Amino acid sequence: MAMLAIQGITKRFGGLVANDDVTFEVEKGQIFAVIGPNGAGKTTLFNMIAGTFPPSEGEVVFDGAAISGRPVARIAQAGLVRTYQLVQLFKALTVAENVMVGFHRVTTGGVFSALFRPPAIRRQEREIAARATEILDFVGLSHRANVTADLLPYGEQRLLEVARALAASPKLLLLDEPAAGLNTEETAELARVVRKVNENGVTIMLIEHDMGLVMQIAHRIAVLDYGRKIAEGTPEEIRAHPDVIAAYLGGTEGYDD
Ligand SMILES: Nc1ncnc2c1ncn2[C@@H]1O[C@H](COP(=O)(O)OP(=O)(O)OP(=O)(O)O)[C@@H](O)[C@H]1O
Ligand SMILES: [Mg+2]
Repeated sequence: MAMLAIQGITKRFGGLVANDDVTFEVEKGQIFAVIGPNGAGKTTLFNMIAGTFPPSEGEVVFDGAAISGRPVARIAQAGLVRTYQLVQLFKALTVAENVMVGFHRVTTGGVFSALFRPPAIRRQEREIAARATEILDFVGLSHRANVTADLLPYGEQRLLEVARALAASPKLLLLDEPAAGLNTEETAELARVVRKVNENGVTIMLIEHDMGLVMQIAHRIAVLDYGRKIAEGTPEEIRAHPDVIAAYLGGTEGYDD
């Protein structure tokens, strides 16, 4: 059984068809990339998978259960967690606190209980703090634990977003352009962390414009163009696909730039 099945998903915004009858499956253990030009409908697809809004038509099946229309928090509790295209950290909180907020998305009272904690749950808080330290260690940010998030270089902010998502113990992690704005070195570090997360048993879906990164880490790729899936396959297959070259690159450029 696939970890995620996208079944005939369509999303309309008024007259605009942002996703048009999109179907594919993500197998457990994969790094699955979704690529396509700006406005192709990639983030819209993630929004429907993560529960931000329901599809106009079609169904999202996660881990065997139809989840379309369920609230984001319920979907996250089931193990499907996402990051956003634009960095969404609590800039005035420390790096460690930002990760702890990630736990509270799936535990009791949401963000507020992470910030204003009653004494009764302080013990639980200490366990969470310990686990946050482990996660920061895992992504290579433990030396930054007590720095406020706004002081982090951009590349580390992106890693912190991954760390916060990991706090929710995802089975499936959706990353929306995690390497956007990163330099070569930061992108390489991000790639290393994403692979490591995947090797630890987390299935990953990745939207990314950096073709070098996609070709390097994705096991499988789906290509969207004007809301439609125009191709799906291995990196080798996608690289050589005439429709992809035509639609995505205008037929002029190589893929590894
Ligand atoms: N909430 C919304 N309401 C109305 N239109 C929307 C909404 N979200 C997205 N769109 C439109 O749907 C289309 C697909 O947008 P989407 O953000 O999914 O593209 P994308 O592939 O993620 O692009 P990018 O690579 O630039 O992030 C665009 O035309 C966009 O303007
Ligand atoms: Mg997008």
